[in-house]
Amino acid sequence: MTTDDLQSLKTWFQNYVHSFSLPVQEDQRNIAIKRDHTLQVCLNAVRIAEDLGLDQQEIRVAETIALFHDVGRFLQYQQYKTFDDSISVNHAVLGAKLLLENNVLRDLPKHDQDIIVRSVNLHNVFSLPERLDEQSLLFARLIRDADKLDILRVVIEYFEQDQESRAEAVALGLPDLPGYSQTVLACVVRGELARKEALMTRNDFKLLQLAWLYDINFTCSLGMIEERGYIQKLARLLPQNEEIAGAVRIVRAYISGRLNNR
Ligand SMILES: [Fe+2]
Repeated sequence: MTTDDLQSLKTWFQNYVHSFSLPVQEDQRNIAIKRDHTLQVCLNAVRIAEDLGLDQQEIRVAETIALFHDVGRFLQYQQYKTFDDSISVNHAVLGAKLLLENNVLRDLPKHDQDIIVRSVNLHNVFSLPERLDEQSLLFARLIRDADKLDILRVVIEYFEQDQESRAEAVALGLPDLPGYSQTVLACVVRGELARKEALMTRNDFKLLQLAWLYDINFTCSLGMIEERGYIQKLARLLPQNEEIAGAVRIVRAYISGRLNNR
């Protein structure tokens, strides 16, 4: 695919998002948060692709995947007013379907189209399927890192903001209670991913973000997380006690370990 191809896909995306202008301010905010998220994921994806030494053509494919990874979010929000897939629709599958049905990628080589649709489809699965060809695996891993990196930013900014300016759909409707679930904390401590279904409170949602760090594929992505201070920022937003501090130390040690081994 060429730079012109990428440029016209960016224009398509802009126009598409623009068609979701909703009259209510809260809805506007939720749409805007996904538009801005997409643009940041594009930047992350390009940076990771460059760090991995991909060529210009592959970098463009990575950026296109980032551009479309959450394209299903807009219809999801318009129809269900939520970003919670479990009570609405799988936004990744919806996005991939939308790309195919509207033939958005028609000008790209068939091979690139396949990789893009597959990566969009898989960007939110709990774990990637075992049998994936090498290229699909690379791009799926890349978008998952680029996406998680920016979700961290979105979640941190959400909790740092005062209540009136928040895009409420970010917190998936979870109650703002002082506590957290031992199940989710245990995942962080054991070095395991937490499942969204286990979330009971907003603090669990913050812990889930920490547990997601165990699923970061590339060391350069972990380097970006360190560089941006996401872990300290997240830790500051959690209840301040020894139990949480211990879990944060475990995550930090895991990341340092991987960064030192590069
Ligand atoms: Fe997504």
